[in-house]
Amino acid sequence: MHESPLVYKPAARFLHWLMALLVIATIPIGVTMLQPGLSRGVQDTLFILHKNGGVVILLLLLARIAYRIANPPPPLPAHVPHSQRLMAEAVHLALYALLLIMAVSGFVRVSAGGFPIEALDALGLPRLPKSEAVAAFAKAVHANARYALVALMLAHIGAALYHGLVRKDGVLARMWPARRG
Ligand code: HEM
Ligand code: HEM
Repeated sequence: MHESPLVYKPAARFLHWLMALLVIATIPIGVTMLQPGLSRGVQDTLFILHKNGGVVILLLLLARIAYRIANPPPPLPAHVPHSQRLMAEAVHLALYALLLIMAVSGFVRVSAGGFPIEALDALGLPRLPKSEAVAAFAKAVHANARYALVALMLAHIGAALYHGLVRKDGVLARMWPARRG
């Protein structure tokens, strides 16, 4: 099929969908765990999931960025206009940057705040030096950058669905898990 050279490699698609699931789960967990009135047990569980899941996202993200540099994506279909190519590239770059900012600021907020990250502590990894100022800065970054991340995710998912359902132009299929044909 002539589309096949235009799809993302299996490893790129695997990382995309695994990380999409993790990030889409992590955001509501982060918001829910801060709500007043939760029982201690529920809140602790959500915090453990969020912090350690966030570290998994950070490690996957670093692997994915390295993989992406070594394996540039396939060219977009010829009919996609230049302005849309630039827009897609800008949104993808911003998504990577915001995921990095979210994951690093979350890590710094917890580690420099002197709180546990259970999986890393179990591995005996050292914490950052304790600093209220650094932790407070990272906390503000983490709380604010999420709005940009959510807005970009919505724009990204909207554009992908527009290509897949309205234009039906093969762009969604580039990332879709099942190979066509
Ligand atoms: C891409 C990864 C991540 C995303 C998308 C994310 C998202 C969020 C969101 C949406 C909130 C709620 C913010 C609010 O309502 O003010 C939050 C809070 C929080 N996150 Fe993350 N997070 C990520 C990674 C991490 C990591 C790696 C850690 C720590 C190891 C972490 C620790 C926290 C903590 C401690 C809070 C509570 C902040 C506070 O004290 O007010 N997050 N996160
Ligand atoms: C759940 C619905 C989603 C759909 C349908 C979707 C669809 C797609 C498609 C079709 C592409 C390829 C675009 C192209 O050919 O240029 C793509 C790329 C990308 N997606 Fe998604 N996506 C979804 C969720 C997400 C989420 C939640 C994130 C981030 C948290 C994300 C981050 C990215 C990134 C960074 C790229 C660029 C890949 C690269 O070239 O390195 N996606 N997505």
